[in-house]
Amino acid sequence: MIDADRLSKVYARGVYAIRDLSLKIDKGEFVFLTGPSGAGKTTFLRLLLREELQTEGRLMVHGRELASMSSGEVQTYRRSLGFVFQDFKLIPGKRVFENVSFVPRVLGVTVEQQRRRAFQVLKWVGLQHRMSAYPHELSGGEQQRIAIARALVNEPSLVLADEPTGNLDPDLSLEIMNLFREINARGTTVVVATHDRELIRRVGRRAIALAHGSLTEAV
Ligand SMILES: Nc1ncnc2c1ncn2[C@@H]1O[C@H](COP(=O)(O)OP(=O)(O)O)[C@@H](O)[C@H]1O
Ligand SMILES: [Mg+2]
Repeated sequence: MIDADRLSKVYARGVYAIRDLSLKIDKGEFVFLTGPSGAGKTTFLRLLLREELQTEGRLMVHGRELASMSSGEVQTYRRSLGFVFQDFKLIPGKRVFENVSFVPRVLGVTVEQQRRRAFQVLKWVGLQHRMSAYPHELSGGEQQRIAIARALVNEPSLVLADEPTGNLDPDLSLEIMNLFREINARGTTVVVATHDRELIRRVGRRAIALAHGSLTEAV
């Protein structure tokens, strides 16, 4: 599913955010990406989102090399991904339902289908009764569940999350991880970046550890 081969990303001033990184993540896996702040976790996810291009090496997803995609192909590719951020990134002035169905609406999905899909994913994260709430009326844990529902609404084959529990307490963090485990149990590949080793230990899945942009000892 994901195949990085001697991948490097150098930002301006010669900073290697990713350095000579080779790794494989299989379809259907649930993998943590860990390491201290500055290790390159976010950069690797941004390369996977194709928001950045590598400086050296190769990155393949679904058998396609990301760097050689046309802009049209990049759009199609991104629709096969779901993304969850640390700070939820819900649109403040829009109700939960509108937040969740924003992408389907832009893609021209019918209103009827938008409703059906939004209800489905909201029910799945246990928040179908909050469809009409605004983000500021929800707790942090609830906002992150809404953000996860939004990431799932397009039925992505790959879900990427960058420190999704960074703003949540340990119990809520585990609850969010259980959602990712369920997403994964339904066949979706899941990659979660977190510096929280205790959480990784509690969830018990493969962890890819980075330091200074390279693989380091497993945690
Ligand atoms: N846009 C950027 N421009 C220059 N340097 C960057 C940029 N983004 C990240 N970096 C640098 O790349 C390294 C890896 O950062 P990052 O991928 O954000 O790590 P992590 O997510 O593990 O904390 C750090 O040294 C960081 O300062
Ligand atoms: Mg980061």
